[in-house]
Amino acid sequence: MKLNKHSVIGVVGTGTMGTGIAQVAATAGHSVLVYDKNNDALLRARHSLIKIFNRLIEKGKYSQGEVDSILHRIQWVDGLGRFESCDLVIEAIVEDIEVKKQFFHQLKSVTHDDCILATNTSSLSVASIASVLKFKHRMIGIHFFNPAALMPLVEIVPALTTGDEVVKQVSELIKSWGKTTVVAKDTPGFIVNRIARPFYGEAFKMYEEGVADPATIDWAMREIGGFKMGPFELTDLIGQDINYTVSETVWRELYYDPRYKPSITQKRLMEAGLFGQKTGKGFYDYADGAVKPEPKKDKELGKQIVNRILAMLINEAADAAFLNIASKKDIDTAMTKGVNYPKGLLKWANEIGLEVVLERLEKLYKEYNDDRYRPSVLLKRNVQEKTDFYY
Ligand code: NAI
Repeated sequence: MKLNKHSVIGVVGTGTMGTGIAQVAATAGHSVLVYDKNNDALLRARHSLIKIFNRLIEKGKYSQGEVDSILHRIQWVDGLGRFESCDLVIEAIVEDIEVKKQFFHQLKSVTHDDCILATNTSSLSVASIASVLKFKHRMIGIHFFNPAALMPLVEIVPALTTGDEVVKQVSELIKSWGKTTVVAKDTPGFIVNRIARPFYGEAFKMYEEGVADPATIDWAMREIGGFKMGPFELTDLIGQDINYTVSETVWRELYYDPRYKPSITQKRLMEAGLFGQKTGKGFYDYADGAVKPEPKKDKELGKQIVNRILAMLINEAADAAFLNIASKKDIDTAMTKGVNYPKGLLKWANEIGLEVVLERLEKLYKEYNDDRYRPSVLLKRNVQEKTDFYY
């Protein structure tokens, strides 16, 4: 069975991600079956899509007729029975390995033998989820970014057992939905959630050390680094709880590698319920009338901050390339399209000069005597061989 524009798509879990994925699939012309075990969540998703599309009509992006056909293609179902007609099912339920395994165990008896089964997990092992299936070659990770309808990147994550044909078909289908796909090895954090760790972790560490306050670090990363948002304001937006959990998972799953060690400061914020914008307070205060602290606009300090975080990010990107987590090209694409970095990190490293990046890391490594700052073998090799990261 080849996936094509007539394929029926199933989406399970109508939270933040499932709702967006259903929107993307129906907009691309597919019949979509949507299910959530919680009927209220299903209803909420239905209303939220109607609201979203009404706004898009107001903005002139779609006509009423187009929206009517898109919404008509979505069927909100109250059980998995109807999923026997699906050619691809994308699961976006709670991030819990046991719940996901149980779900796929149940799903496999409902779907037809050619149906491709996918998980939108952001941090769990796809291989482990696939282990409950009889036909393991048809299970794959399809990792959308939030908000799914707007973010262009989708990480395609084959498990050890996934068939090559499944990877090809899924990549082609997701591209036909207007998305940019990259292929990532089934390893903790895949590409983006692994490489982006120091953007937050190194910023929090500098704050803990008293190098600068959050407002100054955010200012430096925006104004000097060219990033859309700084690490403190961005994690306040994402939710300190969500960002901390990803950090801790990646650290634990990578056998407590000090490079990924999470921040105690962020853990305390999470424990205190100071999640950021959604609770009214995180690193910043979002109460009515609260005054945002002013950054110390010291250019020299700002450059030091950016250079340290950037060196750590580039080191992560280099190590991901070294470990074949993805191709160099996909690594750069993932960071620009998945988290809006101003440039691909490997390309950026070429511009800065690999020897400069290595020198920055070695200085930190010497000063802290901490494996957190060990330079990637690939970076060292390239410097030794006087070559750039290439494509
Ligand atoms: P959410 O908590 O907003 O929604 C999950 C939904 O799944 C809920 O409506 C819940 O009722 C439903 N559900 C739970 N167990 C179920 C089951 N056994 N059968 C049917 N429905 C069930 O979660 P969210 O944020 O949408 O995340 C879903 C998945 O996507 C997770 O694996 C998460 O790691 C991943 N993800 C999340 C991103 C985000 O920014 N929120 C980004 C990328 C991936």
